[in-house]
Parts: sequence; C-alpha cells; structure tokens
Amino acid sequence: MKRPIIAGNWKMNKTNAETKEFIAQLRPLVKDAQCEVVCCVPFTNIVTARKAARGSNIQIGAQNVHWAESGAFTGEISAAMLKELKVKYVLTGHSERRQYFGETDQTVNLRTKAALKAGLKVIVCVGETLSQREESKTAEVLTTQTIEALKDITKQELKRVVIAYEPVWAIGTGKTATAQDANDTIKIIRRVIRKLYGRASGTSIRIQYGGSMNPKNASELMSMPLIDGGLIGGASLNAEDFAKVVNY
Ligand code: PGA
Repeated sequence: MKRPIIAGNWKMNKTNAETKEFIAQLRPLVKDAQCEVVCCVPFTNIVTARKAARGSNIQIGAQNVHWAESGAFTGEISAAMLKELKVKYVLTGHSERRQYFGETDQTVNLRTKAALKAGLKVIVCVGETLSQREESKTAEVLTTQTIEALKDITKQELKRVVIAYEPVWAIGTGKTATAQDANDTIKIIRRVIRKLYGRASGTSIRIQYGGSMNPKNASELMSMPLIDGGLIGGASLNAEDFAKVVNY
C-alpha cells in the first residue's frame, strides 16, 4: 500500500514567530494522520519549523533548490544547505516559479536531479494552463513536462519522487478540477511514467492533486483511485483547515 502524502506549500507566507505558533497548533491536530504530513516553508523558516516539529509526524520541506553545489548564484540555495537543515522534501517546478521566475522544463530537471543526488525527496510540480487546456493540449503539455523533468533520473531515484499535478487554472482561484477530471488527467501522467520506467513504477509513484484543495473537497479528491495526496496552498496556512485536509 502506498502512503498518501499531504503537503502544505506556504509560498511567501509566515514569519518565524508565526511559524512557531502554527506548528505548535498543528501538531496535536495531525498526530494520528494516516498520511505523510509535510510543510514546505520559506527558507528563512526552516530552522524554526524543524525545532517546533521535533518529535512529531510533521516533516519540513523547502520550496526550491538550486542545481549547483555552490557558487555565484545570488539568492539561490543549494541541496547541501537544505540537507544540513534536515529538510526532507523540496518542491521543484511549481507553476509560480515557471510563470514568474523563468523556470523551464530544463531547469526543473536540473534542480530535481541535484536534490535527488543530495538525498532529498522531491515533489515535482506539473500542470497545464487554462489556455493550454482550452486548446486541448493538456496531455501534450503534461507528457512533455513529465518526460523533461525526469530526464536522466534513475528508477532507483524515482522512488524519492512525488509528482504534484496542479492545473494552473485551479491554483489560488477557488476553482478545483472535478475529482474525476483530476483522476483522468493523472492517468496520463502515470502512462508517461510507465513508458519511461515500466508498469510497476507507473502504478507505485505517488501523484498528488493540487489547486484549491481544501477541507470541503479533500475527501472526494482523496477517494479517487489514482490520487495519492494533495499539495495545498491557501488552505495550508491555517492549522485547523490544513489539519482537516490531512485528516480527510
Ligand atoms: P492553492 O495552491 O491550494 O492555494 O490553490 C496550491 C499550490 O499552488 O500548490
């Protein structure tokens, strides 16, 4: 049985003081969770979040990682730096990074490889925009994004990869893909993985849904056979809401 994974993506939210308070509030609410619980926090909050989560089932993740080991890359953070802080997961390829920070399929691949090489687990985000969906390009876009993101990643490394399917039109908009639609689209991604790594990997890789997932729709989404978790933005900022999603 695959262990579902619910991850919060805090984006650029919360100070250290707020982080400490949030994790303290969240701990008792998710202590009996059946799934993995992850909070992907801003770099500046990692140490505080880890301290606050010590001894609990809450794992701390980061939201980005650079591909080089070190060097002249102002404003970037390396995988070794994250490892040193005992970060478990890191996001790559989030649509906001693609949209606002020039992230491409190639840089997503470089970042993913570097994180895996350092021993981190990676949540690789893929998803189509509204115009791509309207032009019936969803399958094509997801296929390319998935193939390119996983280029040169071994079957062994793939075990530390989670894919987050996040339709861009559903992120922060309150519009969710229907559970059936999300499930059908995730089937496309599984087919790509199967072609790249074989049938077993296509079935065993964990794929999350993301995009306006919240306490109201979480259980329906999580009941779908091909959905193994969620990547939660807005609803991950409130401990009670996030706990409700975790305890779907
Ligand atoms: P949302 O964000 O839940 O606020 O739609 C999801 C994400 O961007 O990961």
